[in-house]
Amino acid sequence: MALLIDHLGIAVRSLDQAAPAWAAALGMGPAGREEVPGQGVRVAMFAVGGPKLELLEPMTPEGPVGKFLESRGEGIHHIAFRVDDVNAALARAKDAGARMIDETPRRGAGGALVAFVHPKSLNGVLVEFVQRP
Ligand code: CO
Repeated sequence: MALLIDHLGIAVRSLDQAAPAWAAALGMGPAGREEVPGQGVRVAMFAVGGPKLELLEPMTPEGPVGKFLESRGEGIHHIAFRVDDVNAALARAKDAGARMIDETPRRGAGGALVAFVHPKSLNGVLVEFVQRP
């Protein structure tokens, strides 16, 4: 099964402030901006070569990214691996004893199906499996 790093998620307080700063530093604008209500975030994707960058702004302070910002501040929030079959990836991680945040895949940015592994199972790192349409 192919396993690539699809993107790095970066938690930011404000996309309006962060996206121009990243655009200036990288010399490229975000490929797109999107609301992902299922994850309670607004997303700006930068299609850099290889893994993309996903800036995440919480829609509410109570959501997962809002809570992350509260406790850990801005910065790298998750690593997303692209998989051919998110259900299979989820089942494998679960069989291996990982604690899952998602027992079933949900809708992520760009129409992808995603599932998250709990950071307690992976040394404090939040891992996302992404199946692209
Ligand atoms: Co992500």
